[in-house]
Amino acid sequence: MLKNLKAQIIKNERIARGIYSMVIICEGADLANFVPGQFANISVPEHKELLLKRPISICETDVEKNTVTLVYQIKGKGTTALADMGKGTVLDAILPIGSGYHLKNSDKKVFLVGGGVGIAPLLSVTRKWADKTYEAFLGYRGKEFEYCLKDFQSVSEKVYVSSDDGTIGEKGFVTDMLKSRLERETPDVILTCGPPPMLKALKKALEPFDIPAQVSMEQRMCCGFGACSGCVCGVQKDEGLEYKKVCVEGPVFDLYEVVL
Ligand code: FES
Repeated sequence: MLKNLKAQIIKNERIARGIYSMVIICEGADLANFVPGQFANISVPEHKELLLKRPISICETDVEKNTVTLVYQIKGKGTTALADMGKGTVLDAILPIGSGYHLKNSDKKVFLVGGGVGIAPLLSVTRKWADKTYEAFLGYRGKEFEYCLKDFQSVSEKVYVSSDDGTIGEKGFVTDMLKSRLERETPDVILTCGPPPMLKALKKALEPFDIPAQVSMEQRMCCGFGACSGCVCGVQKDEGLEYKKVCVEGPVFDLYEVVL
Protein backbone atom coordinates (compact mmCIF):
# COMPACT_ATOMS: atom_id res chain seq x y z
CA MET A 1 0.00 0.00 0.00
CA LEU A 2 1.56 3.29 -1.11
CA LYS A 3 1.44 5.98 1.53
CA ASN A 4 1.41 9.67 0.73
CA LEU A 5 3.74 11.38 3.20
CA LYS A 6 4.61 14.96 3.95
CA ALA A 7 8.24 15.89 3.41
CA GLN A 8 10.04 19.14 4.05
CA ILE A 9 12.95 20.41 2.00
CA ILE A 10 16.01 21.08 4.13
CA LYS A 11 18.41 21.69 1.26
CA ASN A 12 17.99 22.10 -2.48
CA GLU A 13 21.09 23.03 -4.45
CA ARG A 14 22.68 22.84 -7.84
CA ILE A 15 25.52 20.30 -7.82
CA ALA A 16 26.42 20.31 -11.51
CA ARG A 17 25.11 21.84 -14.71
CA GLY A 18 21.39 21.09 -14.80
CA ILE A 19 21.66 18.66 -11.87
CA TYR A 20 20.29 19.34 -8.39
CA SER A 21 20.44 17.63 -5.03
CA MET A 22 17.44 17.96 -2.73
CA VAL A 23 17.53 16.78 0.87
CA ILE A 24 14.12 16.21 2.42
CA ILE A 25 13.10 15.16 5.87
CA CYS A 26 10.26 12.70 5.77
CA GLU A 27 8.83 11.40 9.03
CA GLY A 28 7.13 8.05 8.56
CA ALA A 29 9.15 6.92 5.55
CA ASP A 30 10.37 3.35 5.91
CA LEU A 31 14.03 4.15 5.31
CA ALA A 32 15.32 1.21 7.33
CA ASN A 33 14.07 -1.09 4.57
CA PHE A 34 15.21 1.11 1.70
CA VAL A 35 16.78 -0.87 -1.12
CA PRO A 36 19.13 1.00 -3.50
CA GLY A 37 17.50 1.46 -6.89
CA GLN A 38 14.14 2.34 -5.34
CA PHE A 39 12.92 5.86 -6.04
CA ALA A 40 10.73 8.64 -4.66
CA ASN A 41 7.64 10.10 -6.25
CA ILE A 42 7.30 13.73 -5.21
CA SER A 43 4.78 16.45 -5.89
CA VAL A 44 5.61 19.88 -7.23
CA PRO A 45 4.03 22.20 -4.65
CA GLU A 46 2.72 25.67 -5.45
CA HIS A 47 2.08 24.64 -9.08
CA LYS A 48 -1.49 23.43 -9.40
CA GLU A 49 -1.02 22.86 -13.14
CA LEU A 50 1.70 20.28 -12.45
CA LEU A 51 -0.57 17.56 -11.16
CA LEU A 52 1.66 14.55 -11.53
CA LYS A 53 4.29 13.59 -9.05
CA ARG A 54 7.84 13.34 -10.38
CA PRO A 55 9.87 10.13 -10.04
CA ILE A 56 13.29 11.01 -8.61
CA SER A 57 16.29 8.81 -7.84
CA ILE A 58 17.27 8.28 -4.24
CA CYS A 59 20.97 8.95 -3.83
CA GLU A 60 21.36 8.58 -0.06
CA THR A 61 19.23 8.01 3.03
CA ASP A 62 19.82 8.66 6.72
CA VAL A 63 17.60 6.42 8.82
CA GLU A 64 18.33 8.23 12.09
CA LYS A 65 17.62 11.70 10.76
CA ASN A 66 14.77 10.55 8.48
CA THR A 67 16.39 12.34 5.58
CA VAL A 68 16.58 11.38 1.94
CA THR A 69 18.86 12.89 -0.68
CA LEU A 70 17.27 13.05 -4.10
CA VAL A 71 19.24 13.88 -7.22
CA TYR A 72 17.43 15.13 -10.29
CA GLN A 73 18.14 16.66 -13.63
CA ILE A 74 16.19 19.58 -15.01
CA LYS A 75 14.26 18.20 -17.95
CA GLY A 76 10.99 20.09 -18.08
CA LYS A 77 8.53 22.33 -16.23
CA GLY A 78 8.23 20.05 -13.20
CA THR A 79 11.93 19.68 -12.49
CA THR A 80 12.51 23.38 -13.26
CA ALA A 81 9.90 24.23 -10.63
CA LEU A 82 11.47 21.79 -8.18
CA ALA A 83 14.84 23.49 -8.58
CA ASP A 84 13.23 26.76 -7.45
CA MET A 85 11.84 25.26 -4.22
CA GLY A 86 13.51 26.65 -1.14
CA LYS A 87 14.31 25.31 2.31
CA GLY A 88 11.16 24.73 4.36
CA THR A 89 8.90 23.95 1.39
CA VAL A 90 6.57 21.07 2.17
CA LEU A 91 5.75 18.55 -0.54
CA ASP A 92 3.92 15.25 -0.87
CA ALA A 93 6.15 12.24 -1.23
CA ILE A 94 5.71 8.52 -1.73
CA LEU A 95 8.96 6.78 -0.90
CA PRO A 96 10.84 4.57 -1.11
CA ILE A 97 9.03 2.71 -3.88
CA GLY A 98 9.68 0.12 -6.58
CA SER A 99 12.01 -2.85 -6.60
CA GLY A 100 15.68 -2.22 -6.00
CA TYR A 101 18.96 -3.93 -6.80
CA HIS A 102 19.74 -7.14 -4.99
CA LEU A 103 23.13 -8.50 -4.03
CA LYS A 104 23.87 -12.02 -2.85
CA ASN A 105 26.24 -12.82 0.01
CA SER A 106 28.52 -14.39 -2.58
CA ASP A 107 28.68 -11.12 -4.57
CA LYS A 108 31.95 -9.72 -3.28
CA LYS A 109 33.19 -7.63 -6.17
CA VAL A 110 30.70 -5.24 -7.73
CA PHE A 111 31.19 -2.98 -10.73
CA LEU A 112 28.94 0.09 -10.82
CA VAL A 113 28.34 1.61 -14.24
CA GLY A 114 26.55 4.95 -14.30
CA GLY A 115 25.93 7.67 -16.83
CA GLY A 116 24.64 11.21 -16.28
CA VAL A 117 21.97 11.52 -13.62
CA GLY A 118 21.93 7.69 -13.48
CA ILE A 119 25.12 7.86 -11.42
CA ALA A 120 23.15 9.05 -8.37
CA PRO A 121 21.28 5.87 -7.33
CA LEU A 122 24.49 3.83 -7.52
CA LEU A 123 25.97 5.76 -4.61
CA SER A 124 23.30 4.36 -2.29
CA VAL A 125 24.48 0.84 -3.23
CA THR A 126 27.87 1.53 -1.66
CA ARG A 127 26.18 2.86 1.50
CA LYS A 128 23.75 -0.06 1.92
CA TRP A 129 26.24 -2.84 1.19
CA ALA A 130 29.43 -1.36 2.61
CA ASP A 131 31.04 -4.83 2.94
CA LYS A 132 31.43 -5.25 -0.85
CA THR A 133 34.35 -4.17 -2.99
CA TYR A 134 33.43 -1.62 -5.63
CA GLU A 135 34.86 -0.28 -8.84
CA ALA A 136 32.89 2.55 -10.39
CA PHE A 137 32.68 3.50 -14.07
CA LEU A 138 31.18 6.95 -14.35
CA GLY A 139 30.29 8.70 -17.59
CA TYR A 140 29.68 12.45 -17.65
CA ARG A 141 28.92 14.77 -20.54
CA GLY A 142 31.81 16.97 -19.43
CA LYS A 143 33.55 18.52 -16.44
CA GLU A 144 30.68 20.90 -15.64
CA PHE A 145 28.27 17.95 -15.37
CA GLU A 146 30.39 16.10 -12.81
CA TYR A 147 28.90 15.36 -9.37
CA CYS A 148 29.33 12.75 -6.61
CA LEU A 149 32.77 11.84 -7.96
CA LYS A 150 34.54 12.35 -4.62
CA ASP A 151 31.87 10.21 -2.89
CA PHE A 152 32.59 7.32 -5.24
CA GLN A 153 36.35 7.82 -4.88
CA SER A 154 36.04 7.49 -1.11
CA VAL A 155 34.19 4.16 -1.23
CA SER A 156 35.55 2.45 -4.36
CA GLU A 157 38.77 0.58 -4.99
CA LYS A 158 39.04 2.40 -8.27
CA VAL A 159 36.95 4.93 -10.16
CA TYR A 160 37.11 5.20 -13.95
CA VAL A 161 35.78 8.43 -15.44
CA SER A 162 34.97 9.30 -19.01
CA SER A 163 33.29 12.25 -20.67
CA ASP A 164 31.84 13.03 -24.06
CA ASP A 165 34.16 16.00 -24.59
CA GLY A 166 37.26 14.81 -22.72
CA THR A 167 37.11 17.67 -20.18
CA ILE A 168 37.10 15.12 -17.37
CA GLY A 169 38.56 11.63 -17.40
CA GLU A 170 39.05 9.89 -20.72
CA LYS A 171 37.27 11.15 -23.79
CA GLY A 172 34.79 8.57 -24.99
CA PHE A 173 32.34 6.07 -23.62
CA VAL A 174 32.50 4.70 -20.12
CA THR A 175 31.66 1.29 -21.57
CA ASP A 176 34.99 1.30 -23.45
CA MET A 177 36.83 1.74 -20.13
CA LEU A 178 34.77 -1.08 -18.70
CA LYS A 179 35.58 -3.35 -21.65
CA SER A 180 39.33 -3.03 -21.15
CA ARG A 181 38.93 -3.57 -17.41
CA LEU A 182 36.90 -6.75 -18.00
CA GLU A 183 39.74 -8.18 -20.08
CA ARG A 184 41.82 -8.27 -16.88
CA GLU A 185 39.19 -9.13 -14.25
CA THR A 186 35.47 -9.71 -14.07
CA PRO A 187 33.25 -8.84 -11.10
CA ASP A 188 30.55 -11.00 -9.51
CA VAL A 189 27.85 -8.61 -10.64
CA ILE A 190 27.34 -5.33 -12.48
CA LEU A 191 24.79 -2.74 -11.38
CA THR A 192 23.96 0.06 -13.77
CA CYS A 193 21.80 3.09 -14.40
CA GLY A 194 22.05 5.57 -17.24
CA PRO A 195 20.76 6.69 -20.62
CA PRO A 196 19.60 4.07 -23.17
CA PRO A 197 22.62 4.46 -25.52
CA MET A 198 24.94 3.69 -22.60
CA LEU A 199 22.84 0.71 -21.56
CA LYS A 200 22.83 -0.65 -25.11
CA ALA A 201 26.60 -0.28 -25.34
CA LEU A 202 26.96 -1.96 -21.96
CA LYS A 203 24.84 -4.91 -23.00
CA LYS A 204 26.99 -5.33 -26.11
CA ALA A 205 30.22 -4.99 -24.14
CA LEU A 206 29.07 -7.77 -21.82
CA GLU A 207 28.24 -10.22 -24.62
CA PRO A 208 31.54 -12.15 -24.43
CA PHE A 209 31.19 -12.56 -20.67
CA ASP A 210 28.83 -14.30 -18.33
CA ILE A 211 28.37 -11.62 -15.67
CA PRO A 212 24.99 -11.03 -13.98
CA ALA A 213 23.86 -7.44 -14.51
CA GLN A 214 20.95 -5.41 -13.15
CA VAL A 215 19.70 -2.11 -14.51
CA SER A 216 17.60 0.59 -12.89
CA MET A 217 15.46 2.01 -15.70
CA GLU A 218 14.98 5.77 -15.94
CA GLN A 219 11.53 5.66 -17.50
CA ARG A 220 9.10 8.53 -17.95
CA MET A 221 6.17 8.04 -15.59
CA CYS A 222 2.65 9.39 -15.27
CA CYS A 223 0.64 8.04 -12.33
CA GLY A 224 3.58 6.30 -10.63
CA PHE A 225 1.45 3.61 -9.02
CA GLY A 226 0.59 1.13 -11.76
CA ALA A 227 -2.67 2.59 -13.03
CA CYS A 228 -1.85 4.10 -16.41
CA SER A 229 0.70 1.85 -18.19
CA GLY A 230 2.57 5.01 -19.16
CA CYS A 231 5.88 3.59 -18.04
CA VAL A 232 5.95 0.09 -19.56
CA CYS A 233 9.10 -1.49 -20.91
CA GLY A 234 9.58 -4.78 -22.71
CA VAL A 235 11.19 -7.65 -20.83
CA GLN A 236 12.22 -10.71 -22.80
CA LYS A 237 11.64 -13.86 -20.78
CA ASP A 238 12.08 -17.47 -21.95
CA GLU A 239 8.29 -17.64 -22.29
CA GLY A 240 8.23 -14.61 -24.59
CA LEU A 241 8.09 -10.82 -24.48
CA GLU A 242 6.34 -9.35 -21.47
CA TYR A 243 5.49 -5.73 -20.75
CA LYS A 244 6.32 -4.53 -17.25
CA LYS A 245 5.27 -1.37 -15.48
CA VAL A 246 8.53 0.23 -14.42
CA CYS A 247 6.90 2.13 -11.54
CA VAL A 248 5.65 -0.93 -9.70
CA GLU A 249 7.46 -3.92 -11.27
CA GLY A 250 10.76 -2.07 -11.61
CA PRO A 251 12.68 0.11 -11.88
CA VAL A 252 15.35 -2.58 -11.49
CA PHE A 253 15.42 -5.39 -14.05
CA ASP A 254 17.85 -7.95 -15.38
CA LEU A 255 19.90 -6.02 -17.96
CA TYR A 256 19.89 -8.95 -20.38
CA GLU A 257 16.11 -9.30 -20.31
CA VAL A 258 15.09 -5.69 -20.69
CA VAL A 259 14.39 -4.47 -24.22
CA LEU A 260 16.32 -1.26 -24.85
FE1 FES B 1 1.38 4.75 -14.49
FE2 FES B 1 3.61 3.29 -14.21
S1 FES B 1 3.46 5.41 -14.33
S2 FES B 1 1.60 2.61 -14.55
